[in-house]
Amino acid sequence: MDRIAIIGGAQLNGTIPVSGAKNSAIKLMAASLLTDEPLRLTNMPRLADTRFLGKLLTRLGVEVTESDGSDGQQTLLHAPEITSGFAPYDLVRQMRASFNVLGPLVARSGQAKVSLPGGCTIGARPVDLHLQAIEALGAKIDLHEGYVYAQAPRGLKGAEITFPFVSVGATEHAMLAAVLADGVSVIHNAACEPELVDLQECLNAMGAKVEGAGTPTVTITGVPRLHGATHAVIPDRIEMGTYAVAAAMAGGEVRLSNARPGLIDALLDKLKEAGAGVEETADGCIIRRDGQRLTAVDIETAPFPGFATDLQAQFMALMTTARGESRIRETIFENRFMHAPELMRLGADISVSGGEARVRGVEQLEGAEVMATDLRASVSLVIAGLVARGETTVSRIYHLDRGFERLEEKLGACGAQVRRIKGDGEAEL
Ligand code: EPZ
Repeated sequence: MDRIAIIGGAQLNGTIPVSGAKNSAIKLMAASLLTDEPLRLTNMPRLADTRFLGKLLTRLGVEVTESDGSDGQQTLLHAPEITSGFAPYDLVRQMRASFNVLGPLVARSGQAKVSLPGGCTIGARPVDLHLQAIEALGAKIDLHEGYVYAQAPRGLKGAEITFPFVSVGATEHAMLAAVLADGVSVIHNAACEPELVDLQECLNAMGAKVEGAGTPTVTITGVPRLHGATHAVIPDRIEMGTYAVAAAMAGGEVRLSNARPGLIDALLDKLKEAGAGVEETADGCIIRRDGQRLTAVDIETAPFPGFATDLQAQFMALMTTARGESRIRETIFENRFMHAPELMRLGADISVSGGEARVRGVEQLEGAEVMATDLRASVSLVIAGLVARGETTVSRIYHLDRGFERLEEKLGACGAQVRRIKGDGEAEL
């Protein structure tokens, strides 16, 4: 298995272009199941997760064609007909968001058999709200032997869906199913993440009538059919935030381009509070830090526009060398501190109790061998490695490859000493 080796100590200086958002791209890809015409997605990231989903969609009848031309990275998805409504366990367990094919399959062909995703390292992550939404839209749902059987032979019907708490995936799933339902659906207590707005824009470009995404109430007026469209994937706010933290950690000056302002304000406010220089630009931001040590600040994760849980591990890495004590509260997932013991292997001083971690900044981290436990945890270890004395090696980086496109190249272009060590032991720059 590949590893990443980082030699700490280099400042970061340069420009990092932000890729298309993984967490938007995989929901937009699922939207291709809703029409027999081609959906062209531009600004597509090339990641393990988009490949996983491409594999599953191909099995369901979607022709998936990737092209990397002068117009950038694109994926053309075309499902003239749904050839199978079966999403097997071996594909769904590899990526939970694959579960979101259930709604579009039932909406278009009246039936689906989709594996339950199973457990996850960051929390239990049930799918009860997803099933509540699909059932409210009139599908008959049965659970047998780890599979969800959904049937709506006469199509889905518009409905009022009220979520008891905010779920990004369930809101997206309800939108993906309701666009072809007969009548009007209203989603109350919807998630407001920017990826929901992106999904609304793509669905509307395909002929859907969706309003209100980005607010807690989304209204969907069902249409009998959708058509093909071209849509550019929104920039990845988590990738942008990750490199913003990396720049604040390593010092230097990094411009993040190809992004959008307003996507990570909660993080940028905390970076300013900690003492980093932050300048918003038309297509991203510039992060600066001279030699001065950052000051510890507290964070609490929350749904958008609050501090993103997907940036919590990276921020914890940043706080390991700040002056003072930082309190980090995780409120979205119950087990999202798996990076703390790994950061402690690098010399960080962290104690975790329930949903709160206390990080007492140390002057210097020391390179060590560490292990990635999930996608965002793994990049937090790379960030810590940027300032640790000597070499840090991060193993199990297949997690990293799920969500960060060309990470070594992007950091390397700014002066970081990061290289991938192939599984056979051969080093590759
Ligand atoms: C999305 O997960 C993202 N994944 C996550 O990013 C992100 O951390 C999360 O939203 C929160 O922002 C994708 O978009 C693919 P939720 P999702 O449903 O949709 C509970 C990454 O690193 N819940 O908003 O699965 C759930 O257990 C990933 O890229 C239920 O109880 O998150 C959690 O505690 C990790 N029942 C809370 O709700 C349900 O039916 C919020 O989860 C659904 C969710």
